[in-house]
Amino acid sequence: MMGVGKAIAHSNIALAKYWGKADAVRNLTAVPSLSLTLAALRTVTTVRFDDSLAQDQLSLAGESVQGRPLLRVSKLLDSVRAQVGVTTRARVESVNDFPTAAGLASSASGFAALAMAATRAAGLELPLAQVSALARAASASAARSLFGGYVSLGARAESAERVAPGAAFPLEMLVAVTVSGAKETASTDGMGHTRDTSPYYAAWVESAPAVYEQVRAAVLAADFEALGPAVEHSALAMHASMLAARPALIYFAPATLRVMERVRAFRKSGGRAYFTMDAGPHVKVLVEPSAAAELEFELSKLEGVTQVLRSAAGPDASWVEP
Ligand code: DP6
Repeated sequence: MMGVGKAIAHSNIALAKYWGKADAVRNLTAVPSLSLTLAALRTVTTVRFDDSLAQDQLSLAGESVQGRPLLRVSKLLDSVRAQVGVTTRARVESVNDFPTAAGLASSASGFAALAMAATRAAGLELPLAQVSALARAASASAARSLFGGYVSLGARAESAERVAPGAAFPLEMLVAVTVSGAKETASTDGMGHTRDTSPYYAAWVESAPAVYEQVRAAVLAADFEALGPAVEHSALAMHASMLAARPALIYFAPATLRVMERVRAFRKSGGRAYFTMDAGPHVKVLVEPSAAAELEFELSKLEGVTQVLRSAAGPDASWVEP
């Protein structure tokens, strides 16, 4: 029965980073990763299978979208269609309820919500782990957005799994959105380029599992002082592999470094906060809830920071009534 499905998924930020593929065709990751799902960054997606459509249609925030994003959506829909043995095309509508800045991890929540909505619209009620595998094939970080709290995706793993609920270790994330001049390279392309040209890629892949284990152990022990330095190291080691690519992949903007400097100064003055960043210039800062408001205010005053979003841990992805 092909019909309508609607779902909500939250974005996630990796504390131990994924960068690199073990299998590009199946989109299996070369390193294990671990993330925190964010309550404040949410995507709502509706999928409507419709016999009258000649091809799939995609709208993001009400704007019709073609090209590569539509192809990625169609590929996910194709695997759902294959599972139920139909060819019906679908209309996909997706909306982020957070201010969308370039590179702000909307593909993670987007493909997680799409996988949830599409399976429901196709009449499937799959366990979250199976929906996670579907999302992972589209974008590996999306596999983690099916689960709330702290979530891991093993190297070469089909699906993500929960490590700990958010309430077991209540931290918050500040997302400092920065202005950027350069057009960013998409993650998939950036990973291929790093693997092909960076002499540090092999060292990154070799060293990432031990850092992941440190992050995982610190999350399970709810030990912020062990977690924070490992989180910063994971992000900086990943960026070191990108910086050594030819030509270099530079995601840092001037304001990126300003935020990092501010976080380090905050620590020097006795505060506890640690930064991470992804394939974009924005900086995400992990902080204890009691210090979040003060640091949010400080970061928002920095030159080149356009806004600061604040989020606690988010829940599992879920279906809603269309
Ligand atoms: C830097 O999940 O966007 O955010 O699987 O090619 O779609 P694809 O890549 P994607 O990469 C995310 C990379 C990262 C780190 C992370 O989220 O682990």
